[in-house]
Amino acid sequence: MKKETLLKLLQSTDYVSGEKISKELGCSRTAVWKHIEELRKTGYEVEAIPRKGYRIITYPNTIQPHDIKVHLQTSCIGQQLTYFESVPSTQDVAHRLAQEEAEEGHVVIADEQTRGKGRMGREWHSPLGTSVSMSIILRPKIPPQKAPQLTLLAAVSVVRAIKKTTGLDCEIKWPNDILINGKKVVGILTEMQSEPDYVHSVIIGIGMNINHTVEHFPVELKDKATSLMVEAGEEVNRALLLSHLFYELEQFYHDYLQQGFSVIKSVWECYAVSLGKRITARTLHGTLIGVAKGITDEGVLLLEDDFGEIHSIYSADIEIK
Ligand code: BTN
Repeated sequence: MKKETLLKLLQSTDYVSGEKISKELGCSRTAVWKHIEELRKTGYEVEAIPRKGYRIITYPNTIQPHDIKVHLQTSCIGQQLTYFESVPSTQDVAHRLAQEEAEEGHVVIADEQTRGKGRMGREWHSPLGTSVSMSIILRPKIPPQKAPQLTLLAAVSVVRAIKKTTGLDCEIKWPNDILINGKKVVGILTEMQSEPDYVHSVIIGIGMNINHTVEHFPVELKDKATSLMVEAGEEVNRALLLSHLFYELEQFYHDYLQQGFSVIKSVWECYAVSLGKRITARTLHGTLIGVAKGITDEGVLLLEDDFGEIHSIYSADIEIK
């Protein structure tokens, strides 16, 4: 807790005096100096000028709770953070915490996953230190059939947070692949714990390729996947990106609960890359080819085949022709 308070104090662009820090933390000047040394050991570059005070010059690219909290501007999402350096899957931990009554907005976050889960039973690779894997617990009072709307809500939040942090423009391929220049940079997996007419929790799993170099990707993914660093040409501060994401998510979630899905749908459509295009949709029940006509208010994709028949697609892999 002291670390978080100290970081918040030092966040100001001006120098903060040792006296002010010792008052705020309720400790001696020697103890302040020790706390500053500890920060330095975790990668923060802190300048110390006699009679002026302390100032952070560089932030480390780590994603422990105090790294994120220093930037965080939310009241719910990300206020509770459970961090792992390495974990099989954040999704599994979040499911367990949700069953144990974790509060809405609790986020499980990991530097590395060893058995990350993708959509349609696939694996998700999250190498140590370059990616971020997270699972966000929400408890919306909505009927279960509306839960897929939250996937689209998460997708627009990710797009906005990436733009704010890096300036990069992303596109969304239905339902939830985030692409830059046609290559996937973020994947979203939404799962739910529910009764037939009641949602206990929705777990939004988000995997982001952030500071991967081209070499980090397995050969079979080289043409299909990219990272923010590859696209932006510079390293991206992961904690800052996460704090922006939690902020965007909180705003959109609030609007969604107040005004319904239409607010999300219109934003989502601005970023959608597949709409109006000829696509191949590979579902668990077979393949459909046709034109993506739009999405319904439930977030379902409508495909018109070559005979003019409209198909509702709930889950599929989409290839744009
Ligand atoms: C996809 O297939 O595109 C979805 C990938 C979702 C990966 C994320 S990473 C955090 C969370 N934990 C998991 O095991 N999977 C999701």
